[in-house]
Amino acid sequence: MGTIIVTGGAGYIGSHTILELLEQTDYNIISIDNFSNSNKSSYERVKALSKRGFSTLEFNLCDTEKLNYELDKIDAIIGIIHFAAFKSVPDSMADPLSYYNNNLTSLTNLLSYCQQKNIKHFIFSSSCSVYGNADKLPVTEQTPLKKAESAYGHTKQIGEEVIEFFCKANPDFSTVLLRYFNPVGAHISGKLGELPINKPNNLLPIITQTAVGKNSLTVFGDNYTTRDGSCVRDYIHVSDIADAHVKALNYLIEGKNKTNSSLFNLGTGNGVTVLEAIASFEKVAKKKLNYTIGQRRVGDVEAVYADNFLAKSELNWIPKYNLDDMMLSSWKWQLELENEKK
Ligand code: WQD
Repeated sequence: MGTIIVTGGAGYIGSHTILELLEQTDYNIISIDNFSNSNKSSYERVKALSKRGFSTLEFNLCDTEKLNYELDKIDAIIGIIHFAAFKSVPDSMADPLSYYNNNLTSLTNLLSYCQQKNIKHFIFSSSCSVYGNADKLPVTEQTPLKKAESAYGHTKQIGEEVIEFFCKANPDFSTVLLRYFNPVGAHISGKLGELPINKPNNLLPIITQTAVGKNSLTVFGDNYTTRDGSCVRDYIHVSDIADAHVKALNYLIEGKNKTNSSLFNLGTGNGVTVLEAIASFEKVAKKKLNYTIGQRRVGDVEAVYADNFLAKSELNWIPKYNLDDMMLSSWKWQLELENEKK
């Protein structure tokens, strides 16, 4: 059976995807991660949940020599799923060059290796942040991209274009670009989830940390032109995102792709406001959440949610989890982390 390389496999979505690959396929799985924004313990958590193992390598994908040296030692690589990237919007505004350097050099190094070794299948982790403040909702894959609101979102826009031109020059190479909306939640077992290295910027870990008294939640603005004034997002369970990667890989390997560069939105198609997400959490956790209403956050778009028809029809992918499931799984995971600290 061939080998699938998963870059960023110790990260939030990467670790959940490795678990789905181990459960749903027979491929040999090798994760590459330098733990710049992830925790090695995620590997142990995946191994504890899976019936079979996987291998791991630790190096920086921007180190061309090291990348070639390490990958040359691996037999029968048939595909790469590329998660490894910096992904914090505020951090990217504080240090944009580190984002362009890291996110783009790692990508071009991998594509160059694929070209040298004739590796044909590549899945790229992209983001709904490429849409910016779209004029029309829900956004489809054909929605014109707006100017990126952050250096992070810009590296995803550039990454997609790099891949598109690479595909034009290499017709035997086939890719799927997956635009995630807002990945949230944790594995249904409560034993694997998001492990923010520093203080998280994104909503769900802040909600669950606030619920255990480890953080404080400010709702960034309630004066948007939405149904309750707070921003709208398309929250999607991380295990649904992971499942989509397995389906995208099979889509390429089975030759079902209609072009050699396919693009899919990964969202539920439901727009949910911040206050609605909080209300769902309070309901499933049976706990009142203390939060304050604050100023808008620079870089936030007012509303974005997906038209996910293409992913459903082409990848045969159906998101399984609803908002309450996402909130409850996040809460179970936070309680697991608290329990482990005892
Ligand atoms: C969600 C909503 C905030 C924190 C993220 C990642 C980006 C991409 C898409 C993967 C917004 C509000 C948040 C808080 C709040 N991910 N919020 N108080 O910004 O939509 O984008 O997902 O590719 O990398 O940044 O997600 O969770 O930061 O914010 O009110 O303390 O929650 O204003 O409306 P975002 P987020």
